[in-house]
Amino acid sequence: EKVCLAYSGGLDTSCILAWLLEKGYEVIAYMADVGQEEDFEAAKKKALAIGASKVYVEDLRKEFVEELCFPAIQCNAIYENVYLLGTSLARPVIARGQIAVAEKEGCVAVSHGCTGKGNDQVRFELGFYALKPDIKVIAPWRIPEFYTRFAGRNDLLDYAAKNNIPTVQSKKAPWSMDENMAHCSYEAGILEDPNVTPPKEMWKLTVDPLDAPDTPEDFTVQFEKGIPVKLTIGDKVHTEPVDLFLAANALARKHGVGRIDIVENRFIGIKSRGCYETPGLTILRSAHIDLEGLVLDKEVRALRDQFVTIGYSKILYNGLYFSPEREFLEGSITASQKTVNGQVRCRVYKGGFHVLGRSSETSNLYSMEESSMDELGGLDVSDSTGFIKVQAIRLKKYGEAKIAAGEK
Ligand code: ARG
Ligand code: SIN
Repeated sequence: EKVCLAYSGGLDTSCILAWLLEKGYEVIAYMADVGQEEDFEAAKKKALAIGASKVYVEDLRKEFVEELCFPAIQCNAIYENVYLLGTSLARPVIARGQIAVAEKEGCVAVSHGCTGKGNDQVRFELGFYALKPDIKVIAPWRIPEFYTRFAGRNDLLDYAAKNNIPTVQSKKAPWSMDENMAHCSYEAGILEDPNVTPPKEMWKLTVDPLDAPDTPEDFTVQFEKGIPVKLTIGDKVHTEPVDLFLAANALARKHGVGRIDIVENRFIGIKSRGCYETPGLTILRSAHIDLEGLVLDKEVRALRDQFVTIGYSKILYNGLYFSPEREFLEGSITASQKTVNGQVRCRVYKGGFHVLGRSSETSNLYSMEESSMDELGGLDVSDSTGFIKVQAIRLKKYGEAKIAAGEK
């Protein structure tokens, strides 16, 4: 029987590969390129050497940017006010790619190397079941036979040595990482103490803001229906989605933009400390938020912030991408973004993102004349007197009651 294994080239999934073979499965290794720094060729060779009968390496960067990162920008997705969901965003495209290969190869099961305490196992498996309801999932880190046999890293190393699995001698980083085009995450190990400040050398995607250039860099992001369609940095123009996203990354990285450190609530209820760097997404999302101020209707914005931003972010975080609620909210994201056309002029400087100005050719919502403090511009200001009086009816009663009760 065939199993499709999400393979990373690392020690864990290499041992899982060998263990699946030992269990009598034929293994198809699956590697998704979502923009992480990785030697795919070396990993492919390694998987074949261990005994995979086939290795798929698929470039999913375009669908990752267009189908996940762009909607996230359109609704300003954010989890618990801080986390831009970098890992969560990549999981749906990886799960979809892996299931497509499993189908094509006639696999009875899919397998992964996620731990039994995290969000990723939930995200992958909910995706697998939604896309191929009859699929079997083999999650070795939740199988007692596996996790008792490989109780520590040394057990994995011993097993690797016995099974001709090449291991790199370099010292393992004292934290766990997950990288894609949107971000890099650092969790576990020394970071488990939430009061430990991450060492300077941990961050790999961004320059330390203290070491960033002394000259600021200005750029312009143009949006159509809330989607970034053009990024202009100096005389360089980027319009193709992957190229635009990579250019935003390069710019933010150079200036140290997009580092965060959070203690978050995992889906399963455990708290967890994570450090993330999300360079390009941070500046594109911030520019988008700014443009919305100019062109988005007040009540659409309020409802969107309350329900869609929070709802969509939670759906992504909890791994419910392949669900009716995600499709439902995506419809309202599209509806909310009809007027979000225009451009934002921005600056990055020593870890900071700043807006220099914004404009829109298509929106009539902002009027300089109407907003002006110097001109009357159409509004009969005596109407404001009545507006305030009516708003005050309830507050006067509340005030009277408080005074009568002797409260301040
Ligand atoms: N805590 C973050 C999240 O749940 C990051 C997870 C990183 N995953 C990993 N396998 N290292 O989205
Ligand atoms: C893992 O469990 O594989 C990483 C952490 C997480 O998914 O939250």
